[in-house]
Amino acid sequence: MTTTCSTVLDQPLLRPAELGDLQLPNRVVMAPMTRARATGEGLVPNGMHTDYYGQRAGAGLIITEGTWVSERAIGFPNVPGVYSEEQISGWRRVTDAVHALGGRIVLQLWHTGAASHPDHLGGALPAGPSAVDPRERTYTPGGPKATVTPREMTISEIRNTVAEYRTAAVNARRAGFDGVEVHALGPFLIPQFLNPRLNRRRDAYGGDRAGRRRLLMEIVDAAATAWDGRRVGVRLSPYWTAERFTADERTLADYDALVAELCDHPLAYLHLRGPAPAAPGAAPDHDAFARYRRLFDGPLIANHGFGRETGNAVIGAGLADAVSYATHFVANPDLVARFALDRELAAGDPGTYYTGGAGGYVDYPASRWNDGVRR
Ligand SMILES: Cc1cc2nc3c(=O)[nH]c(=O)nc-3n(C[C@H](O)[C@H](O)[C@H](O)COP(=O)(O)O)c2cc1C
Repeated sequence: MTTTCSTVLDQPLLRPAELGDLQLPNRVVMAPMTRARATGEGLVPNGMHTDYYGQRAGAGLIITEGTWVSERAIGFPNVPGVYSEEQISGWRRVTDAVHALGGRIVLQLWHTGAASHPDHLGGALPAGPSAVDPRERTYTPGGPKATVTPREMTISEIRNTVAEYRTAAVNARRAGFDGVEVHALGPFLIPQFLNPRLNRRRDAYGGDRAGRRRLLMEIVDAAATAWDGRRVGVRLSPYWTAERFTADERTLADYDALVAELCDHPLAYLHLRGPAPAAPGAAPDHDAFARYRRLFDGPLIANHGFGRETGNAVIGAGLADAVSYATHFVANPDLVARFALDRELAAGDPGTYYTGGAGGYVDYPASRWNDGVRR
């Protein structure tokens, strides 16, 4: 019995790690998940957010849902922001609970840019790198809608946006967060600038690949000024695929150069969402993580389709320092304990991901001693 227990506890996922100035007691990271529960006035996190994140404080690190850096960033219903005093107070209750329960939590910073919709912006056109429709679906209070042709951002709007990220990071620190993560994947503002199909600019923020990645670099440096040490992570993925986004050789070459340049910036970690596993439940392919491991000399968090064994394997192979889990954390608030005790995982209900209310959000129980032990 003792032998079995120590074997289960001797997992790479359960070893401590340092991601910049973030000290993690284990390598099981909660990945960011939009849950659309800020349904009251002013997009303020409420008591349910405090419970939800508090229940998951056993994670080595919690990365919150994406949160708006400003009102102009908004592009999804009922997502909280970090630009008002009420929002900062709401987040303070969340960080106090997580810290009291022994956890660490960073805030993900989000801006949807051209992937927003006039319905989110009081009728105003969204703005992006160029006046090119990203041709995505956007979720508005009236249901899913097609994106529109945005306005091209002026240089002064771009500078204001960088300043908004700086303020958002300062606000995150005031709210008690241990750091921030820059949301730079999907079809949103930063990947719009990285993408030559959407960024047709000829100024300092476009043209060649160095110009297209300038916005991200400036945002990272601006956010980093909120702390003395390394407390800013970046979440990237070259694999977002839609009409205007393709992980072709040119995209991969752009991201190779981008990841190499990130080594010169004061990051806590790089959070890489890999390609979708070949089939549901299939082991994630290690090649993508190996590629960025070679290029980036700081800590790497791997994501997309991992379970307990595959998470241990990618860390054991030296390809990642930590693994992030999104969907497993929905229905397994005590995911780390379940990994440590080798318990079965519960399945979450995708039907309640974005519905609002407590159902499917704060009502998943922790496991009990005789729940589905696998050995
Ligand atoms: C309900 C839901 C909401 C998500 N919201 C975000 C988000 O706000 N920011 C982000 O970077 N990724 C978001 N993602 C992507 C996840 O962080 C993650 O990359 C994806 O679910 C794959 O990880 P998994 O296989 O562990 O679930 C979301 C995923 C889900 C299922």
